[in-house]
Amino acid sequence: MQIVVNNQMFEGEWDVRMSLLDLLRDQLQLTGTKKGCNQGACGACTVLVDGERINACLALAVQYDGRSVTTIEGIGTKDSLHQLQSAFLEHDGFQCGYCTPGQVCSAIAMASEFERGMPSVVTSNLTTGAAALDSEEVRERMSGNLCRCGAYNGIVAAIVQTYGSDSE
Ligand code: FES
Ligand code: FES
Repeated sequence: MQIVVNNQMFEGEWDVRMSLLDLLRDQLQLTGTKKGCNQGACGACTVLVDGERINACLALAVQYDGRSVTTIEGIGTKDSLHQLQSAFLEHDGFQCGYCTPGQVCSAIAMASEFERGMPSVVTSNLTTGAAALDSEEVRERMSGNLCRCGAYNGIVAAIVQTYGSDSE
């Protein structure tokens, strides 16, 4: 199979039973994407596939033959952080940092979903969509990404500063 990861083409004959997460971490040595629960419950393994967020632990790598994947290694660099990564630093949006790659990838796609008018459970007007990406919307839309350290206040503040608005 062939797969593009962070704009680089990789080709190989990998076990068809291998998850996308294991392909990224064990075969391509892209260990920025984390394995938390390995069963779709924590969001630590969130990556972007053609701009959409997915849990890489629940996906078979072979399903993504020919697709374009972006991992945390493809979002900003140490010397040139993505603005959301800078906001995480500014707001102490992490403690151990284990959930952070997934949080960042998820938030980028979440902001795109919001821009396209996708409602969430807390959106009151399903016709017009949410008026603002405030902390309530962010908390709901990011609820699939757990933080064992409980850095949620900083995470939400960083995301709202980057993509949203908040009246609080
Ligand atoms: Fe994939 Fe937890 S490791 S959701
Ligand atoms: Fe430790 Fe989120 S910062 S799990």
